[in-house]
Amino acid sequence: MIMDRLNFIQKFSSFLGISIVSTTLLESCTSNPEEEEIVLTEEEILYNSLKEKTSEHGKFLDGRILYIDVTHEDFSDLNTVGEFINDSDNYILILRKTEDVFQVFSNCCPHLGTTNQWSYNQGSFRCANHGNSYGTGTQNIARCGSRSTSGNLKQYQTMINQDILTIDFDS
Ligand code: FES
Repeated sequence: MIMDRLNFIQKFSSFLGISIVSTTLLESCTSNPEEEEIVLTEEEILYNSLKEKTSEHGKFLDGRILYIDVTHEDFSDLNTVGEFINDSDNYILILRKTEDVFQVFSNCCPHLGTTNQWSYNQGSFRCANHGNSYGTGTQNIARCGSRSTSGNLKQYQTMINQDILTIDFDS
């Protein structure tokens, strides 16, 4: 699910303590008046901040919001469409669905809650513990550990800003 771009900037900039007051902001002033001042957009300022915060581990958790740099070496499996990563620290499966679309799901199996036996093939995740498969749609969500043997995995809202993926755990 793609969130509105403006809402994204307004919502997540507040998490990072960035105050956005105009459509463009001056990033820095130069001592040489002949040099051009660098003017960054709100989105560029937010992006630069997130790149810095995710630089060490490829991810940064801020409350209920998770930021992932999908180009970080720890997430290199996401370079390939159709591949996924099981981020056990955050209990999620991150799927590169297409070149431009990432989807994020709970990694808790709806059957009995296993989190680490997933494989993915053509729109379905399969849990090898008892062999049940679950879809990636947004309807008919099967809850974690509810003994469901079918349905779709719980999915979180995401937003991609260049190579920074934002995941909203409250969605
Ligand atoms: S726990 Fe996943 S299929 Fe049973």
